[in-house]
Amino acid sequence: MDYIISKKSEVLSGTLKIPGDKSISHRALIIGSMSIGISKITGLLESEDVFSTMDALKKLGVKIEHSNNTYIVEGVGIAGFKVPEEYIDLGNSGTGIRLLLGAIMGSNILVNFKGDSSLRKRPMERVLKPLKLMGANILKSNFGKLPISIKSPKEALAIKYESKISSAQIKSAVLLSGLSASGVTEYIEPIKSRDHTEKMLSKFGANISSKILSNGSNIIKLNGRTNLIANDISVPSDPSSVAFPLVSTIIVPNSKIEIHNVMMNSTRDGIFETLQEMGAKIKIFNKKQVDSEKTASIYAEYSELQGISVPSERSPRMIDEYPILSIAAACAKGNTIMNGITELRVKESDRIKIISNGLNKAGIKTIEKNDSLEVLGGEIEGNCSIDSELDHRIAMSFLILGLVANNPIKVLRPSTISTSFPNFFEIMNSLGAKLVWS
Ligand code: S3P
Repeated sequence: MDYIISKKSEVLSGTLKIPGDKSISHRALIIGSMSIGISKITGLLESEDVFSTMDALKKLGVKIEHSNNTYIVEGVGIAGFKVPEEYIDLGNSGTGIRLLLGAIMGSNILVNFKGDSSLRKRPMERVLKPLKLMGANILKSNFGKLPISIKSPKEALAIKYESKISSAQIKSAVLLSGLSASGVTEYIEPIKSRDHTEKMLSKFGANISSKILSNGSNIIKLNGRTNLIANDISVPSDPSSVAFPLVSTIIVPNSKIEIHNVMMNSTRDGIFETLQEMGAKIKIFNKKQVDSEKTASIYAEYSELQGISVPSERSPRMIDEYPILSIAAACAKGNTIMNGITELRVKESDRIKIISNGLNKAGIKTIEKNDSLEVLGGEIEGNCSIDSELDHRIAMSFLILGLVANNPIKVLRPSTISTSFPNFFEIMNSLGAKLVWS
């Protein structure tokens, strides 16, 4: 089995360019495919997850070419996908499968979807439930999980759907499905989750609006059957990937880092706010508007961190950042409690359990509850080996913990990192980290 060993590192420093945002990359390919005309995408994240979605779209009849750092997508229009000749394998990608389940609605096709051993464990019923109300026929599923055979209708039914979970993947599946419905699709979520689908659909000409209601929930309304018109997209750097070198710099003494063109979206920036509350010296400057998203540059340096309580309401704004936040928490003085994070149990792994067990192995005490995790900052002994469980963010987080541990930390099955951050290893070592592949 392959592994990477991470060893105590001296000083990290450098100016970085981080690959494109994963959420935007999936959406650029899918929404480009559902448009009329040719969309050109630059800065696309070239990772396994995004390639799984690209491959799926090609099997659904979309022409996608690559030339001069640009991906050229020839849209087939809303409801224009063709019956694929073979199974569509989404690998490790939750975003890929959930968004595509919605996107194929209206195309009147039968599609068989499958995924890897991590994706097969993840709940799909949360997406199948609204899609069934919109007319999907689920011919086969493994108790609401992959593999799934789905027959999409000729035209989706417009519904009003209230989700109990704040999930951009469920929201996006319903909205993409609503594109083929005659009438208005309404979607309500308890707290606003990432809004890239809404922003991109609007840029492509969809008739879509959203509003925060008096109880704090977010409602989106989409008028179906309006053609999407092809557009060019420049994908900014992924803040979720940025969080890894950023936290490394903050915890390794005397380090400093600068990162440019980072996506700054108010539904994704919870990690920066949380680290600043813990005492991290982070400066955000050079703010710009790029297409439908904002970007900025980030400067950060080594900081003494203090444990804090992270409120539940913040979790949708930093849902993917709890693994790396837990590493920062292990290095902080005092306790950090992360509240309202039950959703972490159904990510690429049960992240609450895996983080908690991993930190314990490395010498850090934790208190695990169903919907929270408390990390008691302290001396990091290391001298342990952690299996990634095919979860890229678990692998990267524990490799970063190794940079400050008294003894090396070994991460097993680290290749999963290429699902989201293919050059993580090179970027970290260019900063001065001591990561060694074996
Ligand atoms: C994503 C939404 C989030 C996030 C995932 C990407 C997206 O998942 O964890 O990594 O691109 O829509 P949920 O919708 O399940 O919260």
